[in-house]
Amino acid sequence: MGDTKEKLSCVTVALHWVVALTIIVMITIGVYMTDYEVHELYPIHKSIGMLIFVVIVLRVLWRVKQGWPEAASQYKSWEHTLSKVVHWALIIATVVLPISGMLMSSLGGYGLSIFGWELLAATPNPEEAGKMIPINGPLAGTAHETHEIAGKVIFVAILLHLAGALKHHFMDKDGTLKRMLGRRINN
Ligand code: HEM
Ligand code: HEM
Repeated sequence: MGDTKEKLSCVTVALHWVVALTIIVMITIGVYMTDYEVHELYPIHKSIGMLIFVVIVLRVLWRVKQGWPEAASQYKSWEHTLSKVVHWALIIATVVLPISGMLMSSLGGYGLSIFGWELLAATPNPEEAGKMIPINGPLAGTAHETHEIAGKVIFVAILLHLAGALKHHFMDKDGTLKRMLGRRINN
């Protein structure tokens, strides 16, 4: 059930890949819909974000219970520190992104729904079509900024994380990546 040096549990592997792939898709949708003003994508982005938040919370609880997996092989102390910093940045950003997203939308008056299932109603402005009456405009603005910054932080962290995974696999030739793909290793 738990993680060992030789094999990561299927819970760790499944949670890692479900969250990792969804986050990569979410960043792509988020940047695309804002850059090209594709308003039809907003409800899809928000719905997926709220659903994956449930999995993210389970993943954090699983990490708290299990601790971090032991390194698959020996490596330099600066590499160890960098990988820890990046893992923390990834975990924290995956929590901050959906929370700031939900705060930005709800406090901005846009409401919250998951694929049409309304959790919080929007507050449209009767005098200005298409505009909302914010519940708390300044806080919604702060949440918006937080969402943008966290999006940039997670993007850089993913690039570093990917570079590390590829270095382990192709240069160190250790089992770090294979282990995250569910395989048993014996370094
Ligand atoms: C779960 C992970 C999530 C990720 C990785 C993510 C990522 C992003 C990114 C990268 C952007 C583009 C930021 C920019 O450059 O302006 C964005 C925009 C946005 N996100 Fe998310 N997001 C997530 C969840 C959510 C949730 C749960 C909501 C709301 C319920 C949400 C609401 C929005 C909105 C409204 C925008 C557009 C903001 C604008 O028009 O400037 N996001 N998101
Ligand atoms: C781009 C593709 C990705 C690859 C190839 C990859 C690969 C890996 C590998 C090989 C490990 C094991 C490291 C070790 O044993 O010390 C790992 C751990 C981890 N990865 Fe990724 N990863 C990817 C994307 C992501 C993304 C997008 C996130 C964040 C949302 C993420 C978050 C984490 C975290 C937090 C860990 C620490 C162990 C855990 O909590 O399960 N990864 N990843």
